[in-house]
Amino acid sequence: MSEQRQSIHGIWNSRIIFILAATGSAVGLGNIWKFPYITGEYGGGAFVLVYLLCILFVGVPIMMAEVMLGRRGRQSPINSMKAMAEETGSTPLWQIIGWMGALAGFLILTFYSVIAGWAIDYVFKMGSGAFNGVDGATSEKIFGDLLASPGELILFHSIFIIVTLYIVGKGVNEGLEKATKFLMPALFLLLVVLLGYSLSLDSFGQGFDFLFTFDFSKISKEAFVVALGHSFFTLSLGLGAMMAYGAYMPAKASIASTVVTVAALDTIVALISGLVIFPIVFANGLEPGAGPGLMFQTLPLAFGQMPGGTIFGTLFFILVAFAAWSSAISLLEPGVSWAVESTRFTRPQITIALGALAWFVGLGSVLSFNHWAEAKLLGKTFFDVLDYLTANIMLPLGGLLIAIFTGWFYKEKFSHDELRMNGSPIFPIWLWTIRIISPLAVVYVGLKGVGLID
Ligand code: PFF
Repeated sequence: MSEQRQSIHGIWNSRIIFILAATGSAVGLGNIWKFPYITGEYGGGAFVLVYLLCILFVGVPIMMAEVMLGRRGRQSPINSMKAMAEETGSTPLWQIIGWMGALAGFLILTFYSVIAGWAIDYVFKMGSGAFNGVDGATSEKIFGDLLASPGELILFHSIFIIVTLYIVGKGVNEGLEKATKFLMPALFLLLVVLLGYSLSLDSFGQGFDFLFTFDFSKISKEAFVVALGHSFFTLSLGLGAMMAYGAYMPAKASIASTVVTVAALDTIVALISGLVIFPIVFANGLEPGAGPGLMFQTLPLAFGQMPGGTIFGTLFFILVAFAAWSSAISLLEPGVSWAVESTRFTRPQITIALGALAWFVGLGSVLSFNHWAEAKLLGKTFFDVLDYLTANIMLPLGGLLIAIFTGWFYKEKFSHDELRMNGSPIFPIWLWTIRIISPLAVVYVGLKGVGLID
């Protein structure tokens, strides 16, 4: 039973705190920034449908597995995987899941921080009234000017890395628990206010149809890969973040209901973000496929026009930065918790070392928006390559291995004990989903992505 092992890193104070922390990890730039822009790039409704199916049949079952393995292991993902493999008589090679995950988390942090830096920058831009009454073209230009200034990008990238390291260095319980308790509800509330604004636009229906009209002729092969990858990214799966957080979960809390709550909140935030952004896109003649700048070009327009927009806009970007912050710490936690357990160095030392390295690699992403914009590998910039490699390859691969291990190698009785479902039909449904449906879905999408099937 999980009570046998102790976490040396701390335990969340309650199930609610776990939900907040896990939601803090899941809800981030992925929901507010990435989901709308990839939906715009990959054709709208059909993409959204594939994404929702991935959340349900792949994301939720794998999140349950990750949290379960973490809680039973009570250690960093690398060491928990080792313990779980031993416990069930399998090869210690399964640790590879933990190693690959820690690497993926590190790589994501390098560019996540750059984008979060844009949000911090926008706090100041909004606050100074730079967007009051601007039109679409001006908004695009302000964003373009930011991308063209490596110095400005590096400044905010650095600030974001430093605040992230501060929390990870301090450990689990203190700052973050308290911050998320207040920030997540505030973010949600502001999104609903923005939704009210979007609802008042004539183009709301057009935005709604764009998100929810499932036209499969519009969807490309790559869209399947991106939708699946995003379901991992948005739920913080496949790299051990949820495993690390599960290790700090109170032993009595129910995993299934907790996970479903986190996934539902995450999905709602993404869909509301889409419903806020697309009507504004259409009302102002912007391009839904504008790419990573979409949120930064559209929302300031709305704020620039609404009463009190300067205040709301400033608050909004503060909250986006906070949402990114509570996600970023979970990107570093798998690597840091392993090093705390397995080396002589202290948590602050390890955090600073890894963070400094992430900052340095992040400079590549900064430059890919200006000086290196033309330096491409397979048509992708440095930022694009890291984003694609992590979200669309490493996370699904990590998730596939977790599903195979939990479904086929880990002892069914252990899963049953840990999930505490005492005879509930949800257990066999979960087990067979993770054995068959989730792995097949990942393999199918993978084969489609590399062009081996149509
Ligand atoms: N889920 C976060 C988001 O949607 O912004 C990103 C993320 C955090 C991915 C932590 C993976 C992770 F481990």
